[in-house]
Amino acid sequence: MKPPVLVATKGWDPEGWAKRMRELLPGRTVLATARSGIFEGADKPLREVHYVLAWKPQQETIDRLPALRVVFSLGAGVDHIFALPRLPDAPIVRIVDRDLTGRMTEYVVWQVLDHLRHGPGYRRHQREHLWNEFSQPAARHVTVGLMGLGVMGIDAAEVLLRLGFQVRGWARTLKQIPGVETFAGATGLDEFLSGTDILVVLLPLTTDTKNFIDINLLGKLRRTGPLGGPVFINAGRGGLHVEADIVRALDEGTLVGARLDVFETEPLATGSPLWDRDNVTITPHVAAVSDPEALVLQIAGQIEAFERGEPLRNRVDPERGY
Ligand code: NDP
Ligand code: OXD
Repeated sequence: MKPPVLVATKGWDPEGWAKRMRELLPGRTVLATARSGIFEGADKPLREVHYVLAWKPQQETIDRLPALRVVFSLGAGVDHIFALPRLPDAPIVRIVDRDLTGRMTEYVVWQVLDHLRHGPGYRRHQREHLWNEFSQPAARHVTVGLMGLGVMGIDAAEVLLRLGFQVRGWARTLKQIPGVETFAGATGLDEFLSGTDILVVLLPLTTDTKNFIDINLLGKLRRTGPLGGPVFINAGRGGLHVEADIVRALDEGTLVGARLDVFETEPLATGSPLWDRDNVTITPHVAAVSDPEALVLQIAGQIEAFERGEPLRNRVDPERGY
């Protein structure tokens, strides 16, 4: 009998993932938690589980898996696993997949272009039946600064370059990406920010990056660019930014706009001051959704390769936390 798999998701429907896994790994037991992330059956079937496919896994479910060999994150991010008070003694593997990356690039390009082309302003004019035009800078006069030059950041950079933007990027270690001006670490941060008109954050949430984007950092963005002031786009994680500081930066004119897919607390509270601002665009953590149809294929492939003795791909470094 092949070792069973458990799909353990909180908030997401686990059944879509489990159904797809059963199709791809016939003859193997695939169990699933309830949407609470809790497995509602007896302990016995869990005792043999070697693989968990996890999104916001719950400690009490993980603690019931004594034979666990690999934790597969159902997203690119793994902060939802590192948030466990007691991490399982098993490697953590994250998703790196063309489907997910492509979706993120669509989101970034959508938000950058919508700001450049005065999306909110023209939508307002349409509602008011106004035939008025805004002055329109060219993409080549605008610098997009990507914070995080990993799988997502590099892909977005390449498409933004193709659209004609100036692109710069910042990461922990210095990267070489054709056409992109790169900066690294604490020493490169201020210079990176001082030439950025549109800041796009695609960092992981770790102990180093938590609350990193605050009023002090936002105040270092370029104020003299062609957009009338800096714009902040966060599609990484809400824990990276300080929401009260974003509101303050918008009030004070330190930012002229914000486009946020992720929030300190999700769902965003109905009373948040971010909802009602014309210069803020909110999406409900959908920049790149994990599609079971596309993503389970690589997880099933990884399980089979692992059982043949091959190394796991996209393993997370537990020291770095991403
Ligand atoms: P990667 O691990 O490929 O890239 C992470 C990048 O962040 C790397 O360039 C890394 O630098 C940089 N980085 C990490 N820590 C620091 C630090 N302390 N200082 C400076 N740079 C740092 O991740 P992905 O590109 O695949 O994904 C990025 C994030 O996007 C995910 O962690 C997730 O949170 C988020 N995401 C959000 C989604 C959504 O729907 N909103 C969907 C998918 C992902 P270096 O390369 O030098 O190590
Ligand atoms: C992810 C996400 O990390 O969807 O993939 O947030």
